[in-house]
Amino acid sequence: MKNLQSYITENKERFLNELIELLKIPSISADSAYKGDTLKTAEAVKTSLEKAGCDFVEICETPGNPIVYGEKIIDKNLPTILVYGHYDVQPPDPINLWDSPPFEPVIKTTEKHPDGAIFARGACDDKGQMYMHVKAMEFMTNTNQLPCNVKFMIEGEEEVGSVNLAPFVKNNHEKLKNDVILISDTGMIANDVPSITTGLRGLSYVEVEVTGPNRDLHSGLYGGAVANPINILAKMIASLHDESNHITIPGFYDKVEELSKDERSEMAKAPFNLENYKKALDIDAVYGEKGFSTNERNSIRPTLDVNGIWGGYTGEGAKTVIASKAYAKISMRLVPHQEWEEITNLFKTHFENIAPQGVKVKVTPHHGGQGYVTPIDSIGYQAASKAYEDAFGKTPIPQRSGGSIPIVSLFEQELKSKTILMGFGLDSDAIHSPNEHFGVWNYLKGIETIPGFYKHFTALSK
Ligand code: BES
Ligand code: MN
Ligand code: MN
Repeated sequence: MKNLQSYITENKERFLNELIELLKIPSISADSAYKGDTLKTAEAVKTSLEKAGCDFVEICETPGNPIVYGEKIIDKNLPTILVYGHYDVQPPDPINLWDSPPFEPVIKTTEKHPDGAIFARGACDDKGQMYMHVKAMEFMTNTNQLPCNVKFMIEGEEEVGSVNLAPFVKNNHEKLKNDVILISDTGMIANDVPSITTGLRGLSYVEVEVTGPNRDLHSGLYGGAVANPINILAKMIASLHDESNHITIPGFYDKVEELSKDERSEMAKAPFNLENYKKALDIDAVYGEKGFSTNERNSIRPTLDVNGIWGGYTGEGAKTVIASKAYAKISMRLVPHQEWEEITNLFKTHFENIAPQGVKVKVTPHHGGQGYVTPIDSIGYQAASKAYEDAFGKTPIPQRSGGSIPIVSLFEQELKSKTILMGFGLDSDAIHSPNEHFGVWNYLKGIETIPGFYKHFTALSK
């Protein structure tokens, strides 16, 4: 597009500074103590959309954090792109593992990012990636090159399950009407191996509680004679996988889509270096379901993982005690066709069934969502592919991701449109971890690639 490169070069410092200001506000959706900051962030996003050229921007209140909606409708006969992103971030804990404070952004070079990366919570997930769209919009409106209509829907509760976005989408079909949904909230293979995410996993998240005796007991006086809830919970959790690392919950795999040989060999073409993978994580071997490669295990196969486990005495020194209760938080990543509510029920029934006498078990479902796959022969995918070709000089590889954005399947169900996932982060960017960062090169490359999508999508829609 005309003047795209020079616009980015001329405005690079400002683009970085604006993002840094946004990253300074701790919009942590999981912690109600940060409510004021999430509202401040929503206001900042609203202002940025107005400045970028939206004709209409509003803050839509919800029972939780507000949704920022903006639009620029230039001609009802032209296609409409709906951009979705989120301004909320994960909590920064464990805070002591950060090399610099999570809400005081700094730019430092890394091995993967020789041009520098912005270190801050939300840099990649998703403030940095969301803001690329705001800056791409600014470029298109300032240079009179916006080729179609655009709507923005930026929410503040993605990291806590988008509970209030679902009813908003259901109640606003007309307002959100679009021809394609565009999201940058995923990753790509490497800076020299562009890829487009074609799948996301679903999720079922549960919490379990195992109760033994009605109070904590002396582990000498009672040890051996009553069920220890922590021992029992550990045993129950261990039994959820067999020796092949298959999940043992009856019915769990019933709806799992088995990929054809061709599809699997197509997948295997994506560059992957096992030695580098192990080295980056400092592990001597990978681990997982028998019969599947690492890339398959973390994308087309469902999983069950304990995310946290606690109970009893965990303070300094030793205390001899049998706890009354033990707890765990468990996530199951699902693949397309697995129904998350059904899986939650299968888990609950199974977990209650395997509890031995002497303990009581309680299973509390948290949030969940469906997986998603997008076809590669759609206009949207083709437009994205061309946009990457223009910006990277290479055809992007379609790749299914292991992560989840549960609201995407609801978009398709309610708004009847496909989602295109143009992510510019790297797996090594440490999202949700200490020292999250986003490459300066990736940020600018995203801003460069996005207008191409608008251009090609509009042209292909004719
Ligand atoms: N942006 C991520 C999801 C993601 C990251 C997908 C990288 C693919 C590649 C999103 O913010 C996220 O963290 N989702 C959660 C689920 C949500 C319900 C809390 C997840 O995947 O754990
Ligand atoms: Mn995200
Ligand atoms: Mn996230």
